[in-house]
Amino acid sequence: MARSGSSLLRKERVAAYLESIGQEFLISHLTTLEPPQRENLLNSIRTACWDELQNTYAPPDVIQACPVEVVTLEDREHLSTEIDRIGHAAYANGEVAALLVAGGQGSRLGYDHPKGCFPIGPLSGNSLFQFHCEKILSVSEETGKPFPLLIMTSPATDDDTRKFLKEHSYFGLPPEHVSIFTQGMVPTCDANAQVLLAAPDQILKNPNGHGGCIEALAESGILERLSRLGVAEIIFIQVDNVLAPVFDPTGVGFRRFRNADTVTKVLLKADPLEKVGTMLKIGDRDHVIEYSDLPFTLRQPATEQEHALIAWGRPALEIYGVEFLRRFVASGARLPYHLAQKSVSAWTPEGFLERPGIKRERFIFDILPHARNVNLEVAREREFAPVKNLTGVDSVESAREILSKEYARWLREAGVEVVLEDGAYLEISPRFASTPEQLKRKIESLPDFPKLVRGNLHLV
Ligand code: UD1
Repeated sequence: MARSGSSLLRKERVAAYLESIGQEFLISHLTTLEPPQRENLLNSIRTACWDELQNTYAPPDVIQACPVEVVTLEDREHLSTEIDRIGHAAYANGEVAALLVAGGQGSRLGYDHPKGCFPIGPLSGNSLFQFHCEKILSVSEETGKPFPLLIMTSPATDDDTRKFLKEHSYFGLPPEHVSIFTQGMVPTCDANAQVLLAAPDQILKNPNGHGGCIEALAESGILERLSRLGVAEIIFIQVDNVLAPVFDPTGVGFRRFRNADTVTKVLLKADPLEKVGTMLKIGDRDHVIEYSDLPFTLRQPATEQEHALIAWGRPALEIYGVEFLRRFVASGARLPYHLAQKSVSAWTPEGFLERPGIKRERFIFDILPHARNVNLEVAREREFAPVKNLTGVDSVESAREILSKEYARWLREAGVEVVLEDGAYLEISPRFASTPEQLKRKIESLPDFPKLVRGNLHLV
């Protein structure tokens, strides 16, 4: 039967499109599929991010690197109160939003759901999402202004996250102040840059990294909306850091006072191999080198200078200027892709086979070389309790202990004697108090509050 002119044209268009994205090897595979499957495959291809696959990350030349300049904890003690005043005013005017990146699953915790749903509360079993939402709510109740919460999901976590938050009535946040958006997916390729297949009619894709939040914020219109609402700063936090503060008047004040594009909170690394990004200065710009990319020479620093060079780590607590992000997007610049080789299960005409796959991910901190940045030291025990594993370092166990110790400090500052017995936990719901100052005020208003705490204590 003769083919119609339009289908011929379409076939040529499809071929031209596949050639334009370097995937012409799929043309012959497409001809083996029935029309509905063919459509599925074309859709699967069209909905992936193909732009800039060749824009891959090249580590900076560390020979040129020097230690980053940091406003240390000691410096912070002598800061002008003007900086805090500016930051407090920004929150009071509703000019700050928070971005929670939550595209990851809890698989490393043996938990088959979005990590944000993981029950981290040592006594309550409250989820990571609940902690973060209630911190936002507490700030918004204090200022009387909306505090927009932006949550980035991945296709793997999106449905469950939306359902979870809805079932829990957004933990008290007005739903109109919570924007959930999904990051993009990027094709998973083989070593020859040819995309692998997840099924005969689906290409294999992986989430495009938390750096994908910049384009997703822009494409979803959220960035524009924030700017229209007069929001000038985005507080970036990772879902796994249960202690991540969202109220940071000093950080916001600094960004404005120094007219900076970004504020990066930094801490002294526990050891050269700690699994955090390392801060370096190259020329007049700051860079983060991810722990997996740290050159061998810097993994085992020998001299005092080498130790000083890699001393500062990134707890993934940052403040991004909204106008800076808008300018970055408008300039057409894009973050590079970091490549990670992983064995993946791919469909082939011979069935599913384990193949070496190349995953591409964008990391938000690669925007730093484009930014005028200020580094602010933070006290690790006050702001950093990441939950990466079940036990050991950066684990559920360690995060619960860090939380308890931090709450013990808050209680002591409020005049309560605390003797934390072995195996006992303290937990303060952010609805009860989300800062030491709030806790002090609360306790002062409760004449019967115990003067001594020994065992488990959960304040709700
Ligand atoms: C991360 C940081 C590291 C930092 C450390 C602090 C990266 C690459 N590394 O390490 O610099 O010092 O945390 O604890 O970020 N996410 C998405 N979408 C994705 C990938 C990740 O939303 O496609 C989210 C995760 O849900 C999580 C965060 O980004 O909230 C970090 O991802 P994770 O895989 O935990 O990074 P780490 O290697 O632990």
